[in-house]
Amino acid sequence: MNQSKLYIVMVGLPARGKSTIAVRLKENLNKNHIHTRIFNNGQLRRQITRVNTTTPEFYDPKNRTGVELRERIAIINLERAKRYLSNNGDVAILDATNVSLKRRQMVKVMLNEAPILFIECINNDKEILEASIKRKIALPEFQNLDPQAAFESFTRRIQYYKSIYSTLTTERNFIKLDSLNNRILQEEIVDEIPYHDLIRDFLVTDTVKNLFLIRHGETTFNLENRIGGDSSLTEKGKAQAESLARYFSRKRIPIIFTSKKKRTVETAQPIAARQKDCVIIPLEEFNEIHSGICECMTYEEIREKMPEVYYARRKDKYNYVYPGGEGYVTMKERIDRGIKKALYLTGGTDNIMIIGHRAVNRMILSHFLYRRTEDVPYIYIPQDMFYHIVATQTKKLFQLKPYE
Ligand code: F6P
Repeated sequence: MNQSKLYIVMVGLPARGKSTIAVRLKENLNKNHIHTRIFNNGQLRRQITRVNTTTPEFYDPKNRTGVELRERIAIINLERAKRYLSNNGDVAILDATNVSLKRRQMVKVMLNEAPILFIECINNDKEILEASIKRKIALPEFQNLDPQAAFESFTRRIQYYKSIYSTLTTERNFIKLDSLNNRILQEEIVDEIPYHDLIRDFLVTDTVKNLFLIRHGETTFNLENRIGGDSSLTEKGKAQAESLARYFSRKRIPIIFTSKKKRTVETAQPIAARQKDCVIIPLEEFNEIHSGICECMTYEEIREKMPEVYYARRKDKYNYVYPGGEGYVTMKERIDRGIKKALYLTGGTDNIMIIGHRAVNRMILSHFLYRRTEDVPYIYIPQDMFYHIVATQTKKLFQLKPYE
């Protein structure tokens, strides 16, 4: 067996993040001077077949034409991967579903001169799946169907794959990955796997190439020092949103995540309007801390009318939970979920934008930048600057930048 060459074989149902991981992994390995190439069956199918492969029936395991065609494509890629490793390639990533035992048996027989590491991507979060399928059906291959029909077609395709799906158990080397949470669920390694640490470390790292973390523009509530609520931007807030729009018009922003509150969406709208194709996705997870019985009050009013609340919060701001509401401590779970969703949905895109709130942005920052919990509720989150965050395996950057 060749000790410095490796096959990575992706496994998983469609829309589980396999290709995103494959692309990122390749970039990372290449950065480390490890020659890596991806062999993607779906891409090859779209390139070389003239048959309509969008219908779900094409993926029916009983459809002989479909099965044969897909097997032929798999073999072409396996042969190409072998050739790549026998030349100057170090790592060949086979990107396909590879969910059946039969297919994996063929892979093992053909790829016999270097170890194989199987990476199975698992994610059954309904909401994320729905959103990923919606992204998939925006691809040109679904253009002849209306969105509802395309959604159903892709869901049926997944069902066909499910009917032949066997999870990894008997393979010599495998990692089962919760691909939404970057968590390794199971790992079995028998052979010496080249670049194992690098790959493993990559799999558990949240990768964000450029995250632009913005706080919404000034609101009427901000002017009065009122907390929570759902107020709109002031004239100054609108002007801030316009300046942001001008600033970011020089960058490509395909998706903007906001909360469900008016002030973040109103800040996003002018930015999206200046982009070519940009969607705004409001996520509940990014709603501002809910201050329960204190919603819509000023800090002054809280101090006067509810001194016990005011002083208890001052004493331990991170752990204090507003009666009937939230605290930083209880927000953590939903903010983490929001970040995972945003990262998953943006897939391989380079620039992600999140427009959040003061407490929300503190929590998002602390997800990437270590801060002692007691310091998190005091992270500086101005409205006239934004944070540029880069967090990859090899680079961590946090920069507070003005946009005017
Ligand atoms: O004042 C704006 C605001 O976003 C409020 O809605 C929220 O309660 C507050 O900031 C959070 O900041 P702190 O935790 O410092 O009170």
